[in-house]
Amino acid sequence: MISAPPADTLYDILRGVAALTGDAVVADLARLVGKGVPADLSIAFNHKQIASKRWLVDELTKVLPKPDGPVFVLGAWYGVLGALLLAAPRLDIAELVSLDIDPDCAPIAEILNYRHVAAGRFRAVTADMMGLDFEQVEGGRPGLVINTSCEHLDDVPGWIATLPAGLPLLLQSNDYVREPDHRSCVPSLDAFKAQAGLSELWFAGALPTKNYTRFMLIGRR
Ligand SMILES: C[S@@+](CC[C@H](N)C(=O)[O-])C[C@H]1O[C@@H](n2cnc3c(N)ncnc32)[C@H](O)[C@@H]1O
Repeated sequence: MISAPPADTLYDILRGVAALTGDAVVADLARLVGKGVPADLSIAFNHKQIASKRWLVDELTKVLPKPDGPVFVLGAWYGVLGALLLAAPRLDIAELVSLDIDPDCAPIAEILNYRHVAAGRFRAVTADMMGLDFEQVEGGRPGLVINTSCEHLDDVPGWIATLPAGLPLLLQSNDYVREPDHRSCVPSLDAFKAQAGLSELWFAGALPTKNYTRFMLIGRR
């Protein structure tokens, strides 16, 4: 029987793939794996998660390639999206804050993004997004707030109502109601538009996957 590769084998393979492709994110992931990782990093880096984040990067590049201020990623988990955004050649992001309520996330996110931490472009914060005041946050008012974890909130309209009017927002949710941690799933793109109630909509789309459909909106609060 073939079992999962040990961490040092995975480390060697990832270093090889980084050398083959020249991809800096893969090199950073290899380094993280070499230091030891939580088991669910494999979910944060699975092909569906990466596909949904590549979709995000591609669409953001078309509508807001240069946000006017720091980019906040909320419910950011292990900082994978931050790594992809800061690596994207056609995006111009000077500073990114990766925020999650789970205190286990920030140390992993900062190892994954260590080059950007050193350059002053990335920091990871442990906080509840429901309690943030974007008029007062360190670094100044954001140029963009991203939340790809809307399905995890109890009250999406209630959270959006706390944000400054006119704030650029990128939101993702899904219809994956079978996942126990999902509390605000939406059945369709139209239902997500109604839930978010954005004043301007620059992009709205759906990305079907095997078990569920992911929805994305980009616009202004
Ligand atoms: C499973 S993960 C990411 C799922 C998301 N669909 C994605 O692909 O980015 C959801 C994250 O949201 C975080 N989270 C949930 N509620 C939060 C809150 N109120 N403030 C900050 N982070 C929160 C969790 O700790 C978790 O790391």
